[in-house]
This record gives sequence, C-alpha cells and structure tokens, in this order.
Amino acid sequence: MDKSGQIRTDFAPQDEAISRLHALAFGGDYQGVAPWGERLRRHSLTWAGAFLGDDLLAFVHVVWDGGAHGFLLDTVVHPSHQRKGLGQAVVAAAVDQARAAGCRWLHVDYEPHLEAFYWSAPGFPDRDGVTKQIMRPHP
Ligand SMILES: CC(C)(COP(=O)(O)OP(=O)(O)OC[C@H]1O[C@@H](n2cnc3c(N)ncnc32)[C@H](O)[C@@H]1OP(=O)(O)O)[C@@H](O)C(=O)NCCC(=O)NCCS
Repeated sequence: MDKSGQIRTDFAPQDEAISRLHALAFGGDYQGVAPWGERLRRHSLTWAGAFLGDDLLAFVHVVWDGGAHGFLLDTVVHPSHQRKGLGQAVVAAAVDQARAAGCRWLHVDYEPHLEAFYWSAPGFPDRDGVTKQIMRPHP
C-alpha cells in the first residue's frame, strides 16, 4: 500500500461502506445496507481493511470456531483499485491477526482462477503455523 494508504485491522465497521464495496467488487446491484458491524462482532475473529483516507478500498474477515479453526470470507477490493496488491495485503493482515489469536487452521474457498491469489499471498499459507485448507466450490 502506498504512503497515503493504510491497512487497518478490527476497525469500527461502517455498514454502508462495506455493503457498497462488497456489491461493487462482486459486480452485483447494490441491495442496500447489510448489518456488517453486528455480523462481524458476533461471528468474526478479526477483519482487515485497506483505506485511502476514510475510504474503504479492500476488506476481508475471518469467522472462527472459537478455537483453532478460522475461515476467510468476503475478500473484496474496489474494482478501480484491483491488481495493486491490496487484496493480498488485507489477507496477510487478517492472517497475522488470526495467528496471534491462536488460529492454526485457516480455511478458504474460491473460484479456480483465484488459486494464485491465495497461494501466493504473503503469509498464506504456512507462515508460523497458520495453515490453509482449500475447499473448492461444488460444481
Ligand atoms: C479477488 C480480489 C480480492 C483480488 O484482489 P486484488 O487486490 O486485485 O489482488 P492483488 O493485487 O493482491 O493480486 C495479487 C496476485 O493475485 C493474483 N490475482 C489477483 N486477482 C486475480 C484474478 N482476478 N485472476 C487471476 N489471478 C489474480 C495475481 O497473481 C496477482 O498478481 P499480479 O497482479 O502481479 O498478476 C479482487 O479481484 C476482487 O475483489 N474480486 C471480486 C470479489 C471476489 O471474487 N473475491 C474473492 C472471493 S473468494
């Protein structure tokens, strides 16, 4: 991330910003505000975002079983800022946080074309005991 940008973890989630980013990244119509803050606080071990000023450009979170297993979900980068390393940067930050909390198995599922994105992400897999397990989407 360049000097004017920042990776933040466990920041105060803004429901509208995450909802809009999610819809933009997945290319769907904006369906309105989803209760991201409540979901994250209830189900997620940690989350990470890339910010330019106050603007959220990338996001990911890790849900967990309360023990050694986490699941990486909703990796999204604003379409105008993709292929600049932001996706891997937020994944790396979330992996670090999960590892620090005792997570030893990190799961993720993804479409086949994203194999290189996850496999080459810094710290993912196999850094200091955090290990991934790939679960491919059902055909
Ligand atoms: C997938 C996504 C999060 C990647 O974020 P990003 O910031 O663009 O990715 P990075 O710049 O960190 O990519 C690093 C490397 O991963 C691989 N990669 C990233 N996106 C890729 C894509 N769409 N297809 C193939 N490889 C990809 C490349 O090897 C890339 O390196 P390169 O740019 O030097 O070729 C982003 O494209 C996105 O939000 N997509 C829509 C939502 C989505 O599908 N999320 C994944 C859910 S599992």
